[in-house]
Formats: sequence, structure tokens, C-alpha cells
Amino acid sequence: MTEPGTSLYYPDYLQLDRLLDCQHLVSAEKGAVAHDEMLFIITHQAYELWFKQILWELEAVCTLFRQEAVAEKHVGQAVSHLIRIVEIQRVLIQQIDVLETMTPLDFLDFRDYLIPASGFQSLQFRLVENKLGIRREQRVGFDEMPYETRFTEPDRAHLRASEQQPSLFDLVDDWLGRTPFLQFGDFDFWVAYRAAVDAMLAKDRLLIEQNPTFTSGKRSNQLRMLDDTEVQFDALFDVAKYEAFREEGAFRLSHQALQAALLINLYRDEPILHLPFRLLSLLMDMDENFTKWRYRHALMALRMIGRKIGTGGSSGHDYLRQTAEQHRVFNDLFSLSTFFIPRSALPDLPPKVRQAMGFQFSDSSS
Ligand code: HEM
Repeated sequence: MTEPGTSLYYPDYLQLDRLLDCQHLVSAEKGAVAHDEMLFIITHQAYELWFKQILWELEAVCTLFRQEAVAEKHVGQAVSHLIRIVEIQRVLIQQIDVLETMTPLDFLDFRDYLIPASGFQSLQFRLVENKLGIRREQRVGFDEMPYETRFTEPDRAHLRASEQQPSLFDLVDDWLGRTPFLQFGDFDFWVAYRAAVDAMLAKDRLLIEQNPTFTSGKRSNQLRMLDDTEVQFDALFDVAKYEAFREEGAFRLSHQALQAALLINLYRDEPILHLPFRLLSLLMDMDENFTKWRYRHALMALRMIGRKIGTGGSSGHDYLRQTAEQHRVFNDLFSLSTFFIPRSALPDLPPKVRQAMGFQFSDSSS
């Protein structure tokens, strides 16, 4: 039996004396306690704790993907980390409801004391963005200064160092680029897929040309849209065209990686592709949840401060709304659906290929 006083004690383990002594109201210092400032501080602190956990999980995923060959079980582990992040994000989005119990007038009781501090200076939030793969050049600016200008020098150094590390986007791009393609003997998947796409597009063209309900204006509009789709499909099959699109910023993944991601989506029912498909879906969930949080936060800011500028000096709601549109990482995974064709039109995989993609169990004792 452990001696009393030497066993682990709950408040000590969690260092609650330190944690619960970190809520100092600036309004109290100024002489009139603003009741809701406590909620404001605790909400931000809860966010920062969750950001810490997200960084911890993201680093675990990056470590798994830094290996030259990512084993199947490591993809499974990465999936578990991402599931956790997505669940945390749900809490982060919902938590805004709690802060919105504070009214704009309650906020005004202490808001001016906060200037020039702002969530813009959340180091952990910026580290999450950098670890995911937000690039410096895609950031929405508001004072023509680099985003790290508003941080202290040690924090700036930390941020710059984080940009030098391969991001999760880079690591996933490399991993996808290494995925073997379906070229088994004389079966070339891309030749078969192109034939299936051409047949589908030719059918679509015929349907537009022969639809008796279309006016000539509507018909030429539809044909123009079909031409655009064909141009996009050309890029899928032609590296040079793809690279030209990529240069313009229409795609970010390498050509090989985009093809691999497409293949994983199209044949996700094959056992070997289940986990990679889960992983890609979770990357999209995570990206989407950050965007949802950004929109929710932008709306909360509008509700709290209207069209006023933020305490950090941005245009407030407008700046935040723009970041929701621009600060996204895995856009290409969303755009992939452009290249999907119905299951019924997909080329059949030869039995040899199908077998290579299945999991075989053989009982060696019998
Ligand atoms: C009364 C509640 C809040 C209001 C009115 C508000 C408003 C704003 C505004 C206007 C900005 C833009 C920068 C600026 O000019 O200051 C901003 C940025 C930010 N805020 Fe809040 N905020 C609130 C609560 C929160 C909470 C609870 C968090 C949680 C950590 C948070 C995290 C952030 C982050 C991370 C940014 C940077 C976003 C980016 O640059 O993409 N904010 N906030």
C-alpha cells in the first residue's frame, strides 16, 4: 500500500493550482470587473488546450508518413489520429455557442482593453496551419506585412522553422505519388479508364445535341460546359497539360498523386484500398471542419462587433470570411469528384489485379 502523501494526487497530477490560476481579468485590473471576461478567457484557454492536442495528433500522423514506405498498419494508426482530430474539431465548432451566450454589449465592457491582442496571434493555431500545409503565399493579408510580424521574435522563429518542415500535405502528396499504378502485364488502367471516360463524354454530347427540350442557347451553353469538362479530363491524362494547370494554381498535388487519389476513390471497395480511402476522406473532413470553424467564427465576430475592425486591426468579419475561402489545404481531394464516372462505367479489373488487391487468408495448419 502506498503511504498517504506519496501517492499520486489528482490536483497535483493535473497541476490544477497552476492551471486554475491563469484567469486574470484585465477589467478587474482596470477597476470594474466585467462578468463575461471570465468566460472569454476560459473559452480561449480551452481552445488552446485542444490546439495542443491537435498538434500532438498531427505530429504523430506526420511521423508515420515520414517513413519511406508507409506500412498498412501505419495507415490504420494515422486514420485513428485523424478520427480524433475530427472529433475535437466538432467540439471546437460547438464551443462557439457557449461564447455566444455573451452579448455584444457584455463584450464591449472589456473589449477595448484587449487591443492590440487578437486570436490572430495564436501561435498554436498558426502551427496547426503550417503543419497541415497552408502556404505563406495563400494567406489573406490585411496590413501588407508577413503574418508573423505580430508575434514576438522567439515565436516568429518558431513559425519560420515550422514552415521548413514537410507539411502533412507534402507527406501525403509523396505517399500518394509512390502508390503503385495499375499496370499489370498488358493491362494498363489509364488506357482503360480513358476509353471509359471518352465513351461517357460522347454519350453526354449526344444527349445534349439530341435533347428536344433545349433551346439553341441552352444547348450551346451545355456544350460549352461539356468542352470545359473535356479540357479538365485531358489534364488528368496528360502530364504537360496538368502541370500547366498546376502552375496556375488549379491543382496542388503532383500528377502521380492525383491519379493515385482518383484510383483509391474509384476502387475503394477493393480491400487493399479501404484504409487509404478512409484516410483521404478524413483529410477532407478535417479540412472541411477547419473551414466550418472559420465561417462560424467569422459569423460570431460579425454578431459581436458588426462591421468594426478587429482588436488585431483587420477588417474583422470580411477578413475572416476570406480566410475561410482561401486557407484550405486539401482542395484537390474535393475537386477529384470532377473525374468520377459511374461505377457501372468503370473498367473491370482483370481477376489477376483484383486478386492482388484483396486480402488472402490461408490456414497453413490444414
Ligand atoms: C468575442 C469573441 C471573438 C471575436 C469578436 C473575435 C474576433 C476576431 C477577429 C475580428 C479576428 C481577425 C483578426 C483581428 O483583427 O483581430 C480574429 C482572429 C482570430 N480569432 Fe477570434 N474572435 C473571438 C473569439 C475567438 C476565440 C474563442 C478563438 C479561439 C481560439 C479565436 C481565435 C481566433 C483566431 C485563431 C484568429 C486568427 C484567424 C485567421 O487569421 O485566420 N477567436 N478574431
